[in-house]
Amino acid sequence: MPEFDLAVRGGTVVTATDTLRADIGIRAGRIVAVAEAITDASRTIDAGGLLVLPGGIDSHVHIAQASGPGIVMADDFASATRAAAAGGNTCVMPFALQPRGASLREATHAYRALAEGQCHIDVAIHLIVSDPTPAVLGQELPGLIAEGYTSFKVFMTYDDLVLNDRQILDVFDLARREGARVMVHAEGYDAIRYMTDKLERAGQTGPYGHALSRPQLVEREAAHRAISHAELVDLPIVIVHVSGAEAMEQIAWARSRGLDIRAETCPQYLTLTADHMKGLGSDDPMAGAKYVCSPPPRDVANQAAIWRGLQTGLFDVVSSDHCPFRYDDPAGKLNPKGKTSFRWVPNGIPGIETRLPVLFSEGVSAGRISLNRFVELTSTNHAKLYGLYPRKGSIGPGFDADLTLWDPNRRETIRQEHLHHGADYTPWEGFAVTGWPVMTIARGEVIAQDGRVTGAVGHGRVLDRTVEPAARRR
Ligand code: URP
Ligand code: ZN
Ligand code: ZN
Repeated sequence: MPEFDLAVRGGTVVTATDTLRADIGIRAGRIVAVAEAITDASRTIDAGGLLVLPGGIDSHVHIAQASGPGIVMADDFASATRAAAAGGNTCVMPFALQPRGASLREATHAYRALAEGQCHIDVAIHLIVSDPTPAVLGQELPGLIAEGYTSFKVFMTYDDLVLNDRQILDVFDLARREGARVMVHAEGYDAIRYMTDKLERAGQTGPYGHALSRPQLVEREAAHRAISHAELVDLPIVIVHVSGAEAMEQIAWARSRGLDIRAETCPQYLTLTADHMKGLGSDDPMAGAKYVCSPPPRDVANQAAIWRGLQTGLFDVVSSDHCPFRYDDPAGKLNPKGKTSFRWVPNGIPGIETRLPVLFSEGVSAGRISLNRFVELTSTNHAKLYGLYPRKGSIGPGFDADLTLWDPNRRETIRQEHLHHGADYTPWEGFAVTGWPVMTIARGEVIAQDGRVTGAVGHGRVLDRTVEPAARRR
């Protein structure tokens, strides 16, 4: 009987710290050896000329999430994880959302039931706390954290999700006691409402109004407030989907005070601008809705600032914030109310399959970031931030055999017709990239190859996580 089930041979193995020519030996879905030569295997994959990366981990995606009356998210677990696998990912982290007035525990268990048996790759579920009642803070949330849902997101905007400052402080306090990781959507609710009303009164109701309604100062103010609350409670937090220089300044300022503030950005803030919401070059007045997401993409100067943040270490992770709605659909971007005002255009864009190629091409191929930094930003740090390390996020004995074989020289043009998500468009249509995932291996099985998803739905598991005892500060 051969020693290994699978050997990946002849590739260049890249981790967050090292780049080396090595073979990888896999047994029972785990990496058991990284060595100069591994020969005794039932099956061999030739990775000659390819990079062997830890599978991408996308720690911020929205899948099958309730999105308001008449609006339907374009992906279920099968389609989202299929697209993620084709794009070189082996684990994604969506959100179980607590509808206001409802039980967080029930919502989480119902959401998990949607995922079980329906995933191509592994999934670890964050929570969204929209209604921190005494029962939620006292029993439900501590219980769910103990069950393995060790991270949650809070929102400083959106009618159905916004928490006031006292609620944020109470939730932070609970997270500190239980050792949970908190993600913060930092945009100020009242400022956005003020701007939205004003723009509508002035007749600026098209998709570009979305960008005008959420200027950077709205994000900067909320980031500052979240940081101040985190300082008061003494809680490390993650500020997610940072879009530009002003929020970055707040994060740098917080760190200069010794605060443990982590930061996430997304490909849209590196490659798109607010001008995309003007729909230029299209006769369709709603075309800009394809780019409506929050915070909105900014301008090229802010793109440059975000790149600097990736280079200097300000950012810990790059996620997709995949939040897919179909465009040409009354349950999506072109819902009847959305045509009357940007206020009703569902926020979010698809990006689960394009995150890695866009960041690799614009980052590594363009010489802005190193290969090791790419791995850190797209896999290792996600695992470390959210309690999946050392199960996932690197290549070495004991890690899950989650690997992406990457051709750094392959040139492709991103086209909707080639993608696997449930949306009917991609914001990166026609975007040329250098560097492409050619094979995805999840827990030792080849699940995607050359744009075809070959793995079975159901191969992916829903993962539970644990809180380090030292993280609890009661
Ligand atoms: O526009 C966005 N980003 N929609 C997704 C929800 C969120 O705030 O992350
Ligand atoms: Zn958000
Ligand atoms: Zn999001």
